[in-house]
Amino acid sequence: MALSLREVNIELPWLKVVLAVVFAVTAGVGMQLAMREKLGQETKVVEAEVAGDSGEAKEMEEAKVAEGETKEAEEGEKVPEVEREAGRDIQGKKLVALSFDDGPAAETTTRLLGILREKGVVVTFFVLGNMVEKNPEILKQQVREGHEVGSHTVTHANLAASTVEGIRWEEARMDEIFQEVIQRKPDLTRPPYGAIDEAVRQNVKRPLVLWSVDPEDWKYKSADEVVRRVEGAVFDGAIVLLHDIYPTTIEAVPRIIDDLRQQGYEFLTIPQLAKARGVVMEGGWAYGSFRP
Ligand code: NI
Repeated sequence: MALSLREVNIELPWLKVVLAVVFAVTAGVGMQLAMREKLGQETKVVEAEVAGDSGEAKEMEEAKVAEGETKEAEEGEKVPEVEREAGRDIQGKKLVALSFDDGPAAETTTRLLGILREKGVVVTFFVLGNMVEKNPEILKQQVREGHEVGSHTVTHANLAASTVEGIRWEEARMDEIFQEVIQRKPDLTRPPYGAIDEAVRQNVKRPLVLWSVDPEDWKYKSADEVVRRVEGAVFDGAIVLLHDIYPTTIEAVPRIIDDLRQQGYEFLTIPQLAKARGVVMEGGWAYGSFRP
């Protein structure tokens, strides 16, 4: 539809107002989509439903546009903030985020935290609620030592195979567990098995975090194999999927850190990586990497 208001000769002023609103909304949604393009989000990004036909959906979309503009305006200041957080200069560096699922486990996670502290590396942990209930002190330690912690659901549920009530329960119960232990809610969810469908997108209010490098450490219980597979697939902006419940994975981590550092990589948490690449993560959207 390519007509301008001037070409439409309308006598009724109220109709002009209605048309003006429709044009403004259309332009706004267009800008929002263009912005997402520009931000260079990956092919892994699962597109959230844009503009349903109900009035409510439109209102939500307008609110999103407004929010997006505000957030974009702040972007300029965000890189220095990340540099301060990371304690080092990331300008022009290759960036990578290591992420660890399925913990916290008493022995392996504690050992991993010692390695990360010694190497000065921060990572992202996607914890299970029922593991946090067994090891609440480890979640506290992860936060204290500067790591990001997110939800991997309470029971390792396949959310795409769950009912809406099931999805909502998993997320609400994670909020409670986090509140009890670290007095805040998780900001991110990594859906088990990477299983996402429309119901998951609509009912998990947090950004959905996937991955772009998967050495399948649960299958190859060999540190050599995990190192080889991570280093063979890593790229600038990658999110690496690991599990802090396998001794072989923990054994691979210091080698991965040393090798990637030698190749010029800096390690950031997932929110730090997103910020460094100018991406504002939003609820219901999925993110697998943050390329330059
Ligand atoms: Ni898992």
